[in-house]
Amino acid sequence: MLQTDIDTLLEQARQQVGTAADLDTLDQCRVAWLGKTGSVTTQLKALGALPPEQRRQAGQRINALKVELQDLLNARREQLHDQELDRQLQHERVDISLPGRQRFQGGLHPITRMRNRMVDIFTSLGFQVADGPEIEDDEHNFEALNFPAQHPARAMHDTFYFPDGKLLRTHTSPVQIRAMREQGIPLRVIAPGRVYRSDSDQTHAPMFNQLEGLLVDENISFADLKGVLQQFVDCLFERHLEMRLRPSYFPFTEPSAEVDIAWQQRDGSNGWLEVLGCGMVHPNVLEYCGVDSERYTGYAFGMGIERFAMLRYGVKDLRQFFENDLGFLEQFA
Ligand code: DAH
Repeated sequence: MLQTDIDTLLEQARQQVGTAADLDTLDQCRVAWLGKTGSVTTQLKALGALPPEQRRQAGQRINALKVELQDLLNARREQLHDQELDRQLQHERVDISLPGRQRFQGGLHPITRMRNRMVDIFTSLGFQVADGPEIEDDEHNFEALNFPAQHPARAMHDTFYFPDGKLLRTHTSPVQIRAMREQGIPLRVIAPGRVYRSDSDQTHAPMFNQLEGLLVDENISFADLKGVLQQFVDCLFERHLEMRLRPSYFPFTEPSAEVDIAWQQRDGSNGWLEVLGCGMVHPNVLEYCGVDSERYTGYAFGMGIERFAMLRYGVKDLRQFFENDLGFLEQFA
């Protein structure tokens, strides 16, 4: 290989390497010159065919060329590496002024919130939380609550029955029976929980929540009942609300009443709104639970938790509480 050939090749190589835009192109150059069948390698292999006196000089020249080419390639490779790094640093720069990713914040379901609120109020009045099973038997759900078999009041309950005669409790009142039998007297309990009725429209769902209250002791009067309910209502709505008791009928209380509160209507005037049922525990119920009805009297009340949640949160359709629509639920988070 003549020195002039070498000079030309080097000249071309500098240009090609200098303009190689990426590592791939650079590697193609390397293969073309220094690869197994590259032009410089071929020259080296051909040395053996030269007469010995030329071989040494030619060998030195080609080796020097090889070293030079390698240096060129290395230098350019480093340059390309640096450029790539710069590019990455530019593109992948972390913008520390960007707002962080929002973490989804869960919240309690509005019914749970209302239930907790109601429980808090009654526990601060000295009531303790009691509970019972959602799958009940006829005795606790009806019989011991003074609904004899064939009693017409049973028909108001749209009961879901199981084939074995058990049922989904239609109200939380059976917890009254369990609490009296298990804890004895005096007794002051509330029982929040799920209840079931075969009923569904804007204000009824087949599953809903009630809160039951029961107080049994000596010298308990209707006035005590009224006082506790008034305190509860005022506390719950954080203002004094006028309350009215209307005579009503429940098999397990005598006398019985329904409670209305004065609630502002759309037109600004007040209307009466029924919010709960209550009464003095029927002597039959006390006796069913082994309580001496001559010595003890008690009051009881029962209310729908959804009803209060609808009033307090301004929800028009009860079914929204059970649809698990995030847009609706997030308003309460
Ligand atoms: N259990 C009744 C119902 O579901 C509500 C009720 C009314 C409960 C009067 C009571 C009560 O404890 O005294 O309709």
